[in-house]
Amino acid sequence: MKDYIEVDEWKIIENGFNPHYNKISESIFSLGNGRMGQRANFEEAYSGETLQGNYVAGVYYPDKTRVGWWKNGYPEYFAKVINAANWIGIDINIDGEQLDLAKCEVQQFRRELNMQEGYLKRNFTAKTAGGKIVEAEAIRFCSMADDEAGAIKYTITPVNFSGPVTFTPFIDGDVVNKDSNYDEKFWDEIKKESWNDGGFVQMRTKKTGFEVATGMLIAALQNGEPIKLHTQAVSKEKYVGAKFKLDAVQGQSISVIKYAANLSSQNYPAAELVVNLKETLHQIASKGFDTMLKEQADAWAAKWKHNDIIIEGDASAQQAIRFNIFQLNQTYTGEDDRLNIGPKGFTGEKYGGSTYWDTEAYCVPFYLATADQKVTRNLLLYRYKQLDKAIENAKLLGFTNGAALYPMVTMDGAECHNEWEITFEEIHRNGAIAYAIFNYVRYTGDETYLADYGLEVLIAIARFWSQRVNWSEDKQQYVMLGVTGPNEYENNVNNNWYTSMLACWCMKYTIEVAEKVKAADLGKYTELINRINFNGQEETGRFKDIIARMYLPYDEKRQIFLQQDGYLDKEQILVKDLPAGERPINQKWSWDRILRSCYIKQADVLQGIYFFEDQYDIDTIRRNFDFYEPRTVHESSLSPCVHAILAAKLGDEARAYEFYLRTARLDLDDYNNDTEDGCHITSMAGTWMSVVEGFAGMRVKNGKLSFDPFLPGKWTSFSFNVGFRGTLIKVTIAKSAVDIKHLSGPGLKVMVDGHDIDVQPDAGAKITKVVLAPPPIA
Ligand code: BGC
Repeated sequence: MKDYIEVDEWKIIENGFNPHYNKISESIFSLGNGRMGQRANFEEAYSGETLQGNYVAGVYYPDKTRVGWWKNGYPEYFAKVINAANWIGIDINIDGEQLDLAKCEVQQFRRELNMQEGYLKRNFTAKTAGGKIVEAEAIRFCSMADDEAGAIKYTITPVNFSGPVTFTPFIDGDVVNKDSNYDEKFWDEIKKESWNDGGFVQMRTKKTGFEVATGMLIAALQNGEPIKLHTQAVSKEKYVGAKFKLDAVQGQSISVIKYAANLSSQNYPAAELVVNLKETLHQIASKGFDTMLKEQADAWAAKWKHNDIIIEGDASAQQAIRFNIFQLNQTYTGEDDRLNIGPKGFTGEKYGGSTYWDTEAYCVPFYLATADQKVTRNLLLYRYKQLDKAIENAKLLGFTNGAALYPMVTMDGAECHNEWEITFEEIHRNGAIAYAIFNYVRYTGDETYLADYGLEVLIAIARFWSQRVNWSEDKQQYVMLGVTGPNEYENNVNNNWYTSMLACWCMKYTIEVAEKVKAADLGKYTELINRINFNGQEETGRFKDIIARMYLPYDEKRQIFLQQDGYLDKEQILVKDLPAGERPINQKWSWDRILRSCYIKQADVLQGIYFFEDQYDIDTIRRNFDFYEPRTVHESSLSPCVHAILAAKLGDEARAYEFYLRTARLDLDDYNNDTEDGCHITSMAGTWMSVVEGFAGMRVKNGKLSFDPFLPGKWTSFSFNVGFRGTLIKVTIAKSAVDIKHLSGPGLKVMVDGHDIDVQPDAGAKITKVVLAPPPIA
C-alpha cells in the first residue's frame, strides 16, 4: 500500500519526484478517449524505470504462446492490444545535454491529472549535469471531441542560462511489448514522410494486417509569440522527427505544441489513411491548442453531468470514486460496437486489452445507468456480431447444432487464451453474456433488442448448456462436470453451483424470450427459427427437462448452496486464521496448494446470489454470505464489490463500507502492489456498483428504479446522477433524507425505502424527501 498521491476532489496529484513509483504513476495518470490511450510516460527522454505504452483500441496481435505442449482445441495464441507508435515524444537537448530526469537533479516535480477537464499536467524544475536549470510544464490530452487526436503543449523556461536548446518532436513506431512472447516486434513500416512542421509513420501489424498512420504537426512559441520553424528532418526506421534549434533566453519561455493523430485501417481503407491523417492534423491544428483544450473540458463536463458521484465529508473517497468513473469513461465511450473494455483499459499490457466476462458482469450496470442506452446496446452488439465465432469455438470443442461458447478472452470473437482450465472450463462467461441481455432489457425496457438480436444469442447459449450437461444414472439428475467457476482457485470441479444454476437460468430465460418474441413479432420469430433451425418444441422441451432435473449441490446441514461437489472435504481454515505473511496466497503459495485449499479467489456462489437476489430470502443470503465470505481471499479485484453490495443488502453497513474501501482506492494506493502493470479498469465499475447498488441500494424492480439507501458512517451525504429510460435524476442521500431531483427527460416514478415517489419535471426541480428508516442492527 502506498500513499504518495495527494487527496483532491477533482485531481490526482503526485507532488515530488518518485522515480521508484514511476511505473505506478504512469498507470494511474493514464489518458484515453475510447479510441486510443496511453500511459503517463514523459514526453522528453527518460532512462529510468518506465513502461512505455500507447494503444489504439481494437488493434491487436496474436502472440504465439510459449508453451511446448498442446492439446486438441487449444487456441495457439494469446491476443494482445499492442504497444503502438509513441506520439508524445519530444527530445530536448540543452546545450549538448539531453534532458532526462533520471540524469538530472530534480528540484521540483508535480504531476496532476485533471479529471474534471480531462488532461494531464506535469511541472518540474531540473538541473542538468552541466548545471543548467530549466522549468518545464507539459499539458496533454487524448481528445474526446476528436477521438483520433491528441495534443501536447510543452513549455520550458531557462532559469539560470541563455543558450541554444534543440527540440525534436517525433513519432516513433519502433516500439515493443514488454510481454511479447518471443521478443518479437509486432509492426512493419509501410511508409513515412517528414515535412517542415511535421511528419507521419504508417505501420502494419504482422499477421493481423491492421494499418495505423500516426502523425504530428508542430508549432512553437517563444515568450508567447509564434515563431517560424526551420526544422531538419530526422529519419530512422519507423521514426520521423523534426529537429529545430532555438536560442533560449533566461526567464523566457519556449513552448512546443504538438498536434497528433492516430488513424486506423479499422475505419479507413489503408490506402486512404494518409490523406485522412493529414486532414485530421490540419483540422485540429487550425482549431489550436486552447480551443481543443476547451472542447475537452466541455466533453468532460457533459460526461460528468451524467455520471458524477459527489461524496460530502470524505475527500479521499470523493477523489477515488471520480478516478474510477474517469478511467471507465476514458476506456470506453460506446461509439463503436467493435470495441470493448479490457481489464486494464489503455493503462498497461496485462490481460492484453482483451474482452472478458468483466464487461457483462461488472461494466454493463455502470454504463446502463451513466450513459445513453446505446452505449450498452453496443456492448451487447459486440457479442452479437461475434456469435458466429462463438458457434465455431463450440464446434471446435465438439458441440453441435449452433451451440455457442463465447470465449473467455477475446479480441475478435475467437478464443485467445490458452490455459485449459480457463478456456475449456470457465464456461460461466456464457451465462454472464445472457445475463447482460436480461439486465439491459430490464433496465431500458428496450424489448426490440430481443427480437432483433438477443434471442438468437440466447438460443445459441442455451443450446450449449443443454449439450454441456449430462445425465447421471447414479444421481438420476443432470450434472455439469469439469468446470471452473468464477473462483479460479478451483479447477475441473464437478457441479459448480453458480455455473449450473446460471445454465438453468439461461435456458429458462431463453424459453421466456422465445415466447415473448413469438407473441410480439411472429414474422421475425419465424425468420429466426428457420434461419437457425430452432426446433422450438423439441429443444425447449429438453431445456425444460434439464431445468427440472438439474443437480444443484446443497448442504442440508448448513443450509447453503455448495460451491461444488466435495467443497466441504477441504480443510476449513478461515482466512482470518491464515498468517498475514502467507497472503496473498497467489504470491506466497504453490498453485497446487491453492487448488487443494478451501480459499475462494472471488465471489462464486455469492456472484449467483448477487445476480438473482430476488429469488432468495434474506436468511438464505445471510447464511451463504456468512459461510463463504470468511473463506474468500478477494485476490481478484472483482471480488470486494459483490461483497459490498450483499453486505449492504444484509444491513451490515460497516462491512459494506470496508469492502468498498478495498476497491475504491485499489490503484490510487496500489493496494495489491500491481498498479505498475496498469489500472484495474473493469473492477472500477464494481466500485461504482458498491456505491450505487450497495450504499444506495439501487435496483430495477417491476420496470421502476428502486432505492434502499444508507449513508456510510464517515460521509455527511452522497449523491449521484443516473439515467433511466430517458430521464436523468440526481439522487442525494443525506443523514435523514433522500432527495430525488429531476434533471431532464419525462417524469419518473421511483421507489425509495418501499415508498412510491413521483419525480416530475416541475418549474425548477421537484424534490421529494423521505426520512430514512433507522439503520438495521447488524
Ligand atoms: C479474474 C477473472 C477476470 C480476470 C480479468 C481474473 O483475475 O479471476 O474473473 O475475468 O481476472 O479481470
